[in-house]
Amino acid sequence: MDDKTAYKANYRCHEPGITPDQVADSYTDMAQNYDEILSPERYRGPEIAANEVAARISEDKRGIVRIIDVAAGTGRVGILLKDKGFSNIDALEPSKGMMALLEKTGVYTNTYSEFLGVGQNSVPKDTYDVLVIAGGMGEGHIPVKGIDDMIRITKSGGFVIIVMRKEYLDYVEEYKDKLIPYMDEMEKQGTWTKVELKTVHNYSFNKDGLVFTYKVV
Ligand SMILES: C[S@@+](CC[C@H](N)C(=O)[O-])C[C@H]1O[C@@H](n2cnc3c(N)ncnc32)[C@H](O)[C@@H]1O
Repeated sequence: MDDKTAYKANYRCHEPGITPDQVADSYTDMAQNYDEILSPERYRGPEIAANEVAARISEDKRGIVRIIDVAAGTGRVGILLKDKGFSNIDALEPSKGMMALLEKTGVYTNTYSEFLGVGQNSVPKDTYDVLVIAGGMGEGHIPVKGIDDMIRITKSGGFVIIVMRKEYLDYVEEYKDKLIPYMDEMEKQGTWTKVELKTVHNYSFNKDGLVFTYKVV
């Protein structure tokens, strides 16, 4: 598959105005081809996210820490984390088709077939040492309010790591002039502190990505 065809196929999940249910259904439609469309050469989100988690957690703690892979998709972040020695990984993923594939990987302990940031979810509070998201931000994807859930389900002292396409801050209405201000507001309120924000090149389709790392207070 060439890059143009792959870009178009992926864009179906990011059409302006797409609703959360439509997003989940679009991923279900493309689930069988997802790993080919967003191949590791075209989309480096899972690799970047897993490397960031590994940079924050020393090897001796990797068998103990509890991780949740939010917007886990087909499970690529979990597979990479397992390769790095992490063994206690849960997943949250609203698309039925993607969930069916991630369950087959065998790397996840508990799975949640739910959205983040869209009403109440059933993940218990103060549960995770690391919450990681690769590619879960976008048009109709995790809304700004999802940050409240991220903070709620992460333990005090735990990390929230979000990897997303940089340009979404410019044209996804949900995020433009809202996502970073809300993150800053949460820091002002003392619920989390920023550890690092960095730009990474060639995140997806040769476009830059952002890696946000926060520590929950
Ligand atoms: C580009 S895929 C990323 C999958 C995986 N993390 C990866 O990097 O390969 C985006 C995923 O976000 C999920 N998603 C969309 N909206 C979401 C929400 N509100 N909460 C949680 N996951 C969501 C989709 O179902 C889809 O599986």
